[in-house]
Amino acid sequence: MVKSAGCAAKIFPDILSEALRNIVIEKNENVLVGFEGKDDAGVYKINDDLALIHTADFFTPVVDDPYMFGQIAAANALSDVYAMGGKPQTCLNIVAFPQTQDLDIFNEILRGGSDKIKESGAVLIGGHSIDIENIVYGLAVAGIIKPSDLKCNNNAKPGDKLILTKCLGTGILNNMIKFSELNKENYNQLITSMTRLNKNAAECMIKSNANACTDITGFGLAGHAMQMAAASRVALKFYVRELPVLNGVNEGIRKNLMTRGDKSNKEYTKANVINTGSINKEAEHILYDPQTSGGLLISIPEEKTGFLLLELEKGGDIYARIVGEVLSPTDENPEGIIEFDFTS
Ligand code: CO
Ligand code: CO
Repeated sequence: MVKSAGCAAKIFPDILSEALRNIVIEKNENVLVGFEGKDDAGVYKINDDLALIHTADFFTPVVDDPYMFGQIAAANALSDVYAMGGKPQTCLNIVAFPQTQDLDIFNEILRGGSDKIKESGAVLIGGHSIDIENIVYGLAVAGIIKPSDLKCNNNAKPGDKLILTKCLGTGILNNMIKFSELNKENYNQLITSMTRLNKNAAECMIKSNANACTDITGFGLAGHAMQMAAASRVALKFYVRELPVLNGVNEGIRKNLMTRGDKSNKEYTKANVINTGSINKEAEHILYDPQTSGGLLISIPEEKTGFLLLELEKGGDIYARIVGEVLSPTDENPEGIIEFDFTS
């Protein structure tokens, strides 16, 4: 058993910007996606048929089972390649582990990661490890894509529908494991969700010609939706009652087991959020809950939603559903705004 530390929270975006001040990033015409749009991964064009996708992600244990933790961390790191529509090719392990601890745990974490990498079709070709007090695990991933297939977060079009492929609530349920208890059935649903690759979702999205995509991770639905709305210069509207939520999350909310990210994500997005209908204070926490290995949020023309939903379900993404729509910016809902509609 590893001691689950809860997912370490992300550094706030404004603190990151401060840390990056006076750092000039050279313009390069081959950089298709860089820092600017807060997209999921960096993309570098090799030629008209091929671009490289680069990303890295790692965190402290979110569950006590080291094999599961390894799978979750790898699925989460691979997800940013899928969120661009790409195919992961090579992975490097990123590991921090206290050498004095049980090395079987170390082995189980790496085995979990390795199994997920195999499932993705990528290969593990190296890594780096340090001896430190806290366990950290994740991957650096390189993927490939045809530049014309790229699914950035800046191309959501007014009239599109928004499809979310996984249930929300992983942060709250991980806290229930840590501070309370989670019944076997709900635990299994949570683990199945976090260890599930966004591979099928990415393949279906390419097949159905979606317009834009991002994955829902540390900044929660609200944070990642806000980044998509701002980059695409549109407003997004979500039907809160339609959001798929993991079983047990409402119990966790009633027990006040929200993570630190709940407050910071709300703070991060508050200038851009409009709530309509009668706000359900419990449901509201789901919007800000940081996700570990969350699903894809796909923006797609309405007439293609039927095909996409069918393909997603065929490939096992059984919780995928339409959760909102893309609006032209107006005075009421200017660009970058997300509206949460609580109408029941
Ligand atoms: Co991402
Ligand atoms: Co990431």
